[in-house]
Amino acid sequence: MTEPGKTLDSESTGSEYEGRIAFVTGAGRGFGQAFSQALAARGAHVVMADIDGAAAAAAAQEIVAGGGGASALTCDVADEASVAAAMAAVRREHGGLDILINNAGLHSEAYNIPMAQAGVPMLRRLFDVNVMGVIICTLAAVPLMAGRAGASIINISSTAAYPVPTAYGVSKLAVRGLTAAFAREFGAQGLRVNAIAPGLMMTDTIRAELKPETVAYVRAQQAIDREGLPGDVVDAMLFLTSAAASFVTGETLKVGGGFTLGIG
Ligand SMILES: NC(=O)c1ccc[n+]([C@@H]2O[C@H](COP(=O)([O-])OP(=O)(O)OC[C@H]3O[C@@H](n4cnc5c(N)ncnc54)[C@H](O)[C@@H]3O)[C@@H](O)[C@H]2O)c1
Repeated sequence: MTEPGKTLDSESTGSEYEGRIAFVTGAGRGFGQAFSQALAARGAHVVMADIDGAAAAAAAQEIVAGGGGASALTCDVADEASVAAAMAAVRREHGGLDILINNAGLHSEAYNIPMAQAGVPMLRRLFDVNVMGVIICTLAAVPLMAGRAGASIINISSTAAYPVPTAYGVSKLAVRGLTAAFAREFGAQGLRVNAIAPGLMMTDTIRAELKPETVAYVRAQQAIDREGLPGDVVDAMLFLTSAAASFVTGETLKVGGGFTLGIG
């Protein structure tokens, strides 16, 4: 068993990531950076895409300095042309893609407000990034993944997609639906599509932005009384992208210490 918050060690996953090409959105910080570090540590080359190109470049540089394979791209997942250009670069430089992680998303306190208060422009951007971003990146990536043994896509949903009281939760409910739909649509091409629904995880953004009372409320609802950490989500990603999950597709795996028990 892995120590809470730590990632699976490379021994337990073998070298199945060696030489594989991964594309991670929102890779400049938080989960995206942690996913990239874990994949690169296991021998994958990670293309780190973020709307904040400087953050992606710095995060990639850190991996490269440590001897891993990574490169950075400025990319807005909600912008079809931006994603098309990024995928064209992947095709040119790497010839194909084995792992896509649709991680970029808008979240945190700003989106946990009533919809009438948020207003249409803010809601449109939320759904453009969290929902259309998954669609745009998936459709652009699938032609690069076709015929690559073990290829798989991971979407990042949220436990907020279970009680769905917020616009954010609804956007992440759509991610669960897209995961099932894409798994069905692309299964015949040998592609698996799964999602992870993290509970509250203490990334730098969450630590900086979330009110302590919100953090305390979520923890009180969990069955496991500790903070969720990015490493918990990384472990789920490593399972779902590995051969150990070769018969698993269309699923959303909740990683939230039991936050949603009794809800869904
Ligand atoms: N942290 C949590 O507790 C938590 C819980 C459940 C789900 N999630 C989900 O996990 C994902 C990552 O969360 P995080 O906590 O690491 O977030 P974060 O805010 O720390 O990082 C998100 C990254 O995505 C990038 N990004 C934002 N919009 C983008 C766009 N249009 N195109 C490309 N990149 C963009 C940002 O620049 C940033 O680097 C999100 O989808 C979030 O909704 C997070």
